[in-house]
Amino acid sequence: MVEMETAELETDLSLFKYDNLEQLPSQYRDLEETARTERIEAALAELGDDVIVLGHNYQRREIVEHADFIGDSYELSKRASNSDAEYVIFCGVTFMAESADIITDDDQTVILPSMEASCPMAGMAEALQVDAAWAEITEVVPESELIPITYMNSYADLKAFCADQGGLVCTSSNAHKAFEWAFERAEKVLFLPDKHLGENTAHRLGMEDAVATWDPWDPEGKDVEEVAEADVILWDGYCQVHERFNVEHIEQLREERPDANVVVHPECRREVVEAADVVGSTSTICDTIAEADPGETWAIGTEIHLANHLERWHPEVEVLPLCGDACMDCNAMRQIDPNYLAWVLEELVEGRERNVIEVAPAEKELAGVALDRMLEIYQ
Ligand code: 13P
Ligand code: SF4
Repeated sequence: MVEMETAELETDLSLFKYDNLEQLPSQYRDLEETARTERIEAALAELGDDVIVLGHNYQRREIVEHADFIGDSYELSKRASNSDAEYVIFCGVTFMAESADIITDDDQTVILPSMEASCPMAGMAEALQVDAAWAEITEVVPESELIPITYMNSYADLKAFCADQGGLVCTSSNAHKAFEWAFERAEKVLFLPDKHLGENTAHRLGMEDAVATWDPWDPEGKDVEEVAEADVILWDGYCQVHERFNVEHIEQLREERPDANVVVHPECRREVVEAADVVGSTSTICDTIAEADPGETWAIGTEIHLANHLERWHPEVEVLPLCGDACMDCNAMRQIDPNYLAWVLEELVEGRERNVIEVAPAEKELAGVALDRMLEIYQ
């Protein structure tokens, strides 16, 4: 058996993908909301068409109210690429800003207001670790029989790795299509980094009995030959915001409110997804509530800010967070503080670029291939 390399790599893994962290200047730390809103709007007016502000559905109210577009991770990247703005201010997390940088033109600059907005799940599968696991698995499975698929929630170097190994990227809305694409070309899939989305997708395709999990943090705890027997090998990553939901939340709701419907994100556990009425990306969740009849009740199984936005945007629908006060906000998304937004915009007015996300050219090209493969099969 090949020695596991991953354990000793742990110390090389970084919490923040970019090391050009800039602290917020002290004069921006305690801005009062009304004054800050006026300053942000004044900077945006000054910058005009040179700037587009994109806000992920999980951003707080004080951010999304300044956004030109609000949406899911995939939609926002598309918005960035369709825009002619010189500056894309991406209010989301690092992997989303990287994707925007990959698909925008070279003369467009992507700015992430705070570099600390790093999705922990994306950090659970660093390319370095995956490379080591790939070497170990392909000792027992021929490379030609295995295709890696990475979820959008991953860094550019992992997307590049997947392209290099004949694989692709998927989103929560098209993971099943990416699986089908891969199984037309190979026997097995290595799915990264979200084990729940991977398991939910395998289940949707009737492959629930052909799944095994690869835990990169436990070199002693797995037998590579056994794991490699599965058709779908799941990387042991997860989102803590979505793992919070469990099937008892849905059972309790159905008992107390038999009239209520449930919509959840596919990063939730399989039992939760199976018990829900609707499953989908954050855009699907938004569309579900937008299309609900007045008076309907919907419980939302995703990040709390989105549940709060939906309650505000659709007063005609009763919107409940699926696990009540226990629903979490995303710690990474929370790093995009509106004070940071005011700072990066006012700096741009002065001609200074702060917190630029720039994917290295070689990675950018290959990661672009992985994204293009997804776009070819997506509709
Ligand atoms: P969406 O792509 O559905 O917006 O989800 C992104 C995300 O981070 C979910 O946790
Ligand atoms: Fe990452 Fe989860 Fe936050 Fe989404 S909600 S950005 S998967 S930590």
